Amino acid sequence: MINLNNKYHDLVAALKDQAPFTPDVALILGSGLGEFAGSVDTLKTISTVSLPGYPPSTVQGHEGKIHFAHYAGKNLMLFQGRIHFYEGYKLSQCVLPVFLAHKTNCRKVILTNAAGGINPVFVPGDLMLNASFNAYNIKKELSHLIGIISRESKDRILSFPSPGLNDKIRRAAMSEGICLREGVYWYVKGPSYETPSEIKMIGRFGGDAVGMSTVHEALYASYLGMEVAAITCITNYAAGISPVKLSHAEVTETANRVKHTFESLIKKIITLVD
Ligand code: HPA
Repeated sequence: MINLNNKYHDLVAALKDQAPFTPDVALILGSGLGEFAGSVDTLKTISTVSLPGYPPSTVQGHEGKIHFAHYAGKNLMLFQGRIHFYEGYKLSQCVLPVFLAHKTNCRKVILTNAAGGINPVFVPGDLMLNASFNAYNIKKELSHLIGIISRESKDRILSFPSPGLNDKIRRAAMSEGICLREGVYWYVKGPSYETPSEIKMIGRFGGDAVGMSTVHEALYASYLGMEVAAITCITNYAAGISPVKLSHAEVTETANRVKHTFESLIKKIITLVD
């Protein structure tokens, strides 16, 4: 078990020093979805490079900023940019946003991400609520990170997603007239995209969308006892489903195309969370 309190003592102190409030909800903004941060009233922006020990972002479209903002009377903590395992970081680093949100006494987290669509009904630009996820290929590392030490902690890990939060997300989509898909997010380590045959296998095993993030944040948040949910932007057809070669540019382009729908969904969710 890795004790993040010891490891990140100075980082937590620096963040707490600057945090203007206790957030009602934290959001981690996935690839191409970071612009949401510009649509709310920002009180304070912290550049993550100024925080001691915070890993620098190496991925295009992941800014490395933490915003404290207001929307609809709610206090928000927005992570514009995330830390990926495929960047070569340790899982204990990848879960830092969730750990830091928890340290500011935030108890709800909404994770967002970009992913390739496998479910034949999905098209690029669809938003998908994560009904469940598959993280089998990183379970060993995750277990090591949180230390499966008791029956109680095992039970808590299984509580993703939080049913109450998912209900609110469904309600938000309905009231905004957004067709919200639902499905299983299948985690892959990356960093290269999948082969068509890998996608065929994942589809047969029940994966609806495939991506390289989120599951460690979700499990860690759940381990900390936070309410957690995740929303995926289907940015492309997964490998082999369309003849077009996959690229990070397609991912960010699609995310940019649906940014207004994404923004109205997230804003409605914020009004509904207590
Ligand atoms: N595969 C893995 N990760 C992704 C994809 C994909 O097709 N699209 C966006 N992130």
